[in-house]
Amino acid sequence: MWHFYSPNVIYGEDALNFIEKIKGTRCFIVTDKVIEKLGFLKILTDKLDKFNKSYTVFTEVVPDPHEEDVMKGKEECIKYGPDLIIALGGGSVMDSAKTIWAMYEYPEYTFDNIDPFNDKLYDFANKAKLIAIPTTSGTGSEVTWAVVISRFQDGVWRKAGTTHTSLIPTYAIVDPIFPVRMPPELTILTGFDALAHSIEAYISMWRNEFGNALGLKAIELIFKYLPIAYKEPENKEARDYMHQAATMSGLAFGNSQCHIGHAMGHSLSGIFHTPHGQSVGLFLRYVVEYCLNAPGETNESIQLYSDLAKKLGWAKWSDEDKQAAFTVLEQIKFMH
Ligand SMILES: [Fe+2]
Repeated sequence: MWHFYSPNVIYGEDALNFIEKIKGTRCFIVTDKVIEKLGFLKILTDKLDKFNKSYTVFTEVVPDPHEEDVMKGKEECIKYGPDLIIALGGGSVMDSAKTIWAMYEYPEYTFDNIDPFNDKLYDFANKAKLIAIPTTSGTGSEVTWAVVISRFQDGVWRKAGTTHTSLIPTYAIVDPIFPVRMPPELTILTGFDALAHSIEAYISMWRNEFGNALGLKAIELIFKYLPIAYKEPENKEARDYMHQAATMSGLAFGNSQCHIGHAMGHSLSGIFHTPHGQSVGLFLRYVVEYCLNAPGETNESIQLYSDLAKKLGWAKWSDEDKQAAFTVLEQIKFMH
């Protein structure tokens, strides 16, 4: 038996209007100061005004969100008492909002109580629903059950990751109105995060057919539309498909899991504070190269990446598996 986890996903132009249909009138918005400065927050609050929903805003999220800021968000959320929590931003905002949501449901909890073996957490969303609205096309956190929060320990910032299936947002609203304003560098970094999610998930030990189907389509879309979104930031079609691809990749890795590329990426960014997409993007080609050459597992990785390359048209169906599998590495090097 296997279980495919996903929130309700609303995507495409004007997806933001779906908020009107969501039950709940008192919104706690979790975001950051950059999102506010870019005018994204106003796009959301204008909609909430139109839909007669009241709100308060918590803008204290920073990149690689700190545990103490998340705890502050928890206190403000409890004080406000919302029936909807809205996460507007990138991965750091999403992860903070998911954690605040859990601690709002269980005010006695700290971050340490959120773990996959906490059965009590299955009784969830009794106070509020979580709406996740990604503003970048990469994180996938709007559809996953994982969070990463930074904790200062033994003199260094450490990335503390945890999971629970109850942390999956109730709704993911994937509206291209936000990523169309991303600068080219951020477009590439977040795009590589999305690519890393699907490329890693495809050979993960938890891989499954639902995850593979979404990952395969996501990789196809990323290779087609990421270069266009980078060169033509205003290209709405490219932005819309990249936004969809990032969410598909989120569902792929959320259900199949990432592995060494993300483990190394988190370690690197935990110490040097390199952006997440840059960290995992940097390792991606070496992860693929390692997996294709890994002793003992070589045949399985080769077989899986050969399958991927042939389905994506990077290799011919008649090609030897080894030859076909290495085209995945060549394609990633080309994207770099
Ligand atoms: Fe990632």
